[in-house]
Amino acid sequence: MNNPVLETILRRRSVRHFTEERLSEEDLNSILEAGRWAPSGHNHQPWRFVVVESSEKKDALAELTRYGKPIQAGAACVVVFLDTDVCYDRVKDAQSAGAVLQNMLLAAEALGYGAVWLGEILKNQDKVRSLFDLPESMDLQAVVALGRPKHRNQTSERRPLEELVLGRY
Ligand SMILES: Cc1cc2nc3c(=O)[nH]c(=O)nc-3n(C[C@H](O)[C@H](O)[C@H](O)COP(=O)(O)O)c2cc1C
Repeated sequence: MNNPVLETILRRRSVRHFTEERLSEEDLNSILEAGRWAPSGHNHQPWRFVVVESSEKKDALAELTRYGKPIQAGAACVVVFLDTDVCYDRVKDAQSAGAVLQNMLLAAEALGYGAVWLGEILKNQDKVRSLFDLPESMDLQAVVALGRPKHRNQTSERRPLEELVLGRY
């Protein structure tokens, strides 16, 4: 394969162990920009972000999921919400949030960082909102933990295409 976008998509793996290296402001902004340019129904852009870099807030956030280690170990994390005041369709808005999240994961990969999408924390969405003094209209979608990968030994599998493609007409 000789296409940088496709190579990034295939190379990306969830990274849960990070070095202590910080994310530069420029790279963090590029990752947020990649999220910002996700598609959304009617271009409503219902997503909102909280960026967490302080150890104090990362530790508090990590307490709210059993997958807290990557949050503590990562240099930063991005907490992604949907603003239900501007949402118009439950499924389509959630799909937009998914596009944001995947864009961020791919941007992180393209810039040499690692990232993991954390969803288990959704069970504590009230507590996450309180941690950042956010109103109930902010609907938690996921946390993305980010950092420089400690190693690149991650492996993953996918079902073969023959199982996924139901037909070609
Ligand atoms: C909706 C969603 C929720 C996820 N939640 C978690 C999580 O809470 N903790 C975790 O370690 N990984 C989580 N992941 C990452 C998946 O485990 C991972 O993407 C999957 O195993 C495939 O591995 P890969 O990303 O390395 O290809 C989540 C991914 C998605 C898309």
